[in-house]
Amino acid sequence: MESLKIKGQSIPKLGLGTYRLTGSQGIAVVEAAIEMGYTHIDTAQMYENEKEVGTALKNSGKPRENIWLTTKVWPSNLSREKFLPSVEESLAKLQVSKVDLLLIHWPSKEVRLEEAVEQLIKAKEKSFADNIGVSNFPSEMVRTAVGVGADLMTNQVEYHPYLSQHSLKQVLDSFGISLTAYRPIVKGQVNEDPVILKIAEKYGKSGVQVALRWLIQQEAVMTIPMTSKIHRLKENMDIFDFQLEAEEMNLISDLTAAKRRFIDPDWGPEWDE
Ligand SMILES: NC(=O)c1ccc[n+]([C@@H]2O[C@H](COP(=O)([O-])OP(=O)(O)OC[C@H]3O[C@@H](n4cnc5c(N)ncnc54)[C@H](OP(=O)(O)O)[C@@H]3O)[C@@H](O)[C@H]2O)c1
Repeated sequence: MESLKIKGQSIPKLGLGTYRLTGSQGIAVVEAAIEMGYTHIDTAQMYENEKEVGTALKNSGKPRENIWLTTKVWPSNLSREKFLPSVEESLAKLQVSKVDLLLIHWPSKEVRLEEAVEQLIKAKEKSFADNIGVSNFPSEMVRTAVGVGADLMTNQVEYHPYLSQHSLKQVLDSFGISLTAYRPIVKGQVNEDPVILKIAEKYGKSGVQVALRWLIQQEAVMTIPMTSKIHRLKENMDIFDFQLEAEEMNLISDLTAAKRRFIDPDWGPEWDE
């Protein structure tokens, strides 16, 4: 597993996304992933599976420090009154004393950004999290958060072969903030793309593996694909034994001009850059 070295930390470039992994299936998949070598797990208050993730972590028997654990605070908990108690509740569900990374999941129209970011900083000061970051923040909001004094580790945003994040990435790079790509395989749609499939054929890989490789081969980018199928966990992790050539990286990057977001009605507001 390759790691991203950033802000004095080493983060596994590939994590397991866990949206919709709930109940006994959630525990089984996360446990299998850890058993198989995944060392980075991404959850959130909104996924309603922090308890399952915590249980899988415990069941795995792996030392806590071997797993990079991220959770996220949902917009309804961003106020001064609710933020820290909600994080304490997350930690209790996860059965850990702190997470490695705590993110604001989405900005909220109800709570001033500065207020939410101040609470995020407080969570780190209280040692609820070793590192902090944001998610779904367009460039201007990243600038505001940095201006409030947040030392951001990452901005987790939708990023895949059909969606450019070029201008946001430039802003993140200027602040030394990494980008975590969510929805990286567009729910499997990359397996039908002729450009990606042609490259995949050359390496004897699937379209999904090539899309994931394209992401983690970029500077300061990590990614968190999700699967509910144990047999796919290995495929999604098996991306560290080949390297895309510069020309192939560019061919896939050219596809991002499509600017195609995957619209999921369950997710919060879309913010334009
Ligand atoms: N911060 C945010 O606002 C935000 C928003 C969305 C997502 N996320 C995070 O990012 C993670 C990933 O995003 P996502 O779940 O939306 O999308 P995704 O990872 O791009 O796609 C997941 C889908 O792809 C399928 N899949 C997985 N591996 C596959 C493979 N090897 N071949 C074919 N199909 C495959 C899965 O189906 P099966 O289950 O049947 O394998 C699942 O339906 C989430 O779980 C969550 O942790 C964060």
